[in-house]
Amino acid sequence: MDARLAVLASGTGTNLQALLDHPVVGPWVTLVVSDRGDARALERARERGVRAELLDPAAFADRAAYDARLVDLLRANAIDVVVLAGFMRILGPEVVRAFPERIVNIHPALLPSFPGAHGIEDAFAWGVKVTGVTVHLVDEEMDHGPILAQEAVPILPTDDVGSLEQRIHQVEHRIYAPAVRAVVEGRVKLQGRVAHVLEEDGNDG
Ligand code: GRF
Repeated sequence: MDARLAVLASGTGTNLQALLDHPVVGPWVTLVVSDRGDARALERARERGVRAELLDPAAFADRAAYDARLVDLLRANAIDVVVLAGFMRILGPEVVRAFPERIVNIHPALLPSFPGAHGIEDAFAWGVKVTGVTVHLVDEEMDHGPILAQEAVPILPTDDVGSLEQRIHQVEHRIYAPAVRAVVEGRVKLQGRVAHVLEEDGNDG
C-alpha cells in the first residue's frame, strides 16, 4: 500500500533515521518538519531526498498561528499520518483534531510513569528498576493517548543515564516503525482508550 507520512523532529533524529531505514515505512516518509534550524533530523531527510521544512516558532505570533501553519503544511502535502520523533513542542488541539487517531508519539519511559521532556533522567533519578519505551496515539493531553506498544528496559546497577539512554534508544529504533505501520494499515482498533493492535495476519497482538 501507499501512504504519506510526516515526521516531526527537533533533534538528532535517530528515530527518524530508523523509520527511513525501515523497508516498508521508509518509503512512506514524505515530509520532515522541525522547529529548529540546526536539527540533524533535517539533514537526515535531505540526505534521503525527503522534503525537509523548518517551521521556526520565532516567525509566528503565538502557538495557534504556528499550529495553523503546521496543519496547512501537512494538508498541502496530503499527509495521512503524523509521526512525532523527538518533537519538543506540544501540539495544540487544532493539530490533534485535524488528524484524529493519526498522530503517533514515542516516549522514553513506560507511560503513564515519567511523562514529560526528561523521561529517562526522571526514571533513573527515581530509582525504578524497570523503565522502557512507549509508543502511543496522541490526544489533547501530553504523553497520554492510547498505547500501541511498550517494551520494558531494566535499569542495571552498573547503569548511568548515558548507558540507560543507549539501551532505550535501541528499543525505540526497533519498535517504532512496526507500530507506525499498524496505524497506517488500519490495524489499530480502539475500545475507549485501550488500543488493540492487530498482527499483520489479523490476530490480536
Ligand atoms: C527519543 O528518546 C524519543 O523517545 C523522545 O525524543 C528522543 C528523540 O531522539 N520523544 P532522536 O532525535 O530520535 O534521536
